[in-house]
Amino acid sequence: MDNEALAMTETDGPQSASLQSTASSGSVAIETKSLNLWYGDFQALFDVNLQIKQGQITSLIGPSGCGKTTLLRTVNRLGERLGYVRITGSIEVLGQDILAPEVEVVQVRKHVGMVSQRPNPLPLSIRDNVLFGYRIHEPASKNMSRSELDEVVENALSTVLLWNGVKDRLDQKATSLSLEEQQKLCIARLLPVKPAVLLMDEPCSALDPAGTEAVEELLWGLRGKYTILIVTHNMAQARRASEECIFMLLGKMIEHGQTGEIFVTPENQETADYIEGRYG
Ligand SMILES: Nc1ncnc2c1ncn2[C@@H]1O[C@H](COP(=O)(O)OP(=O)(O)OP(=O)(O)O)[C@@H](O)[C@H]1O
Ligand SMILES: [Mg+2]
Repeated sequence: MDNEALAMTETDGPQSASLQSTASSGSVAIETKSLNLWYGDFQALFDVNLQIKQGQITSLIGPSGCGKTTLLRTVNRLGERLGYVRITGSIEVLGQDILAPEVEVVQVRKHVGMVSQRPNPLPLSIRDNVLFGYRIHEPASKNMSRSELDEVVENALSTVLLWNGVKDRLDQKATSLSLEEQQKLCIARLLPVKPAVLLMDEPCSALDPAGTEAVEELLWGLRGKYTILIVTHNMAQARRASEECIFMLLGKMIEHGQTGEIFVTPENQETADYIEGRYG
């Protein structure tokens, strides 16, 4: 079983301080202040100050090794599983500092879902994949009837445009699905716990063009309901599928603005060089 897939739903520790939404539409969903991160002696993030707007799709671009995955994993508190990671600064999600000692990882993961580069369904049925996180995070699920749980499954799979294709084979192994279907399922399994933020690390990189288009269409449909931060190497995708765009270089946030403006009139020469394909 994929350890990271399990970690993303992990349920260690008591459920203490809950992460309550204090944000409203038009406000900031994720804010980092002076965020620095070291892997041992190596500094991977430098003084990152970011404000990601609620309900929008923001793309994160930059050359390989610039810290995109590191930043995403920090917002989901996945990095701390490595004993040699040190972080300074703060990350607020919905107005609450997720690095504060009283905030449990389980609470962060409930509000901040993550989709990996390669689809990583659990080796369970399609139905059980959708219900996996829900069963962990929603105590009420233990007393729900089969038909109530079926409704949860149908809603999640319908939202990701997968229901019609899989409704007659919900008990089949999720690994029997195509890659595109698996990636949609990995998005679907986050939805029943009602996360506010979806982090996606190159979610289309394992997909063919048709699969990429299908997942992009799905993400566009989730806009407004979720705050989506998506890493992509595909400039056309960033342009098509995001409202704001962040360019990173060597662990620093170089530019953040409206996607249309960044691609047409970038303020920074390094941004211009990158999006025009001169390096990276
Ligand atoms: N677990 C780790 N231990 C030590 N160094 C790491 C670890 N993960 C990443 N790094 C280093 O941190 C830097 C940022 O890596 P990261 O994976 O965040 O970049 P990225 O922008 O996601 O790159 P890519 O586009 O190739 O996915 C790189 O120099 C990388 O070698
Ligand atoms: Mg990466």
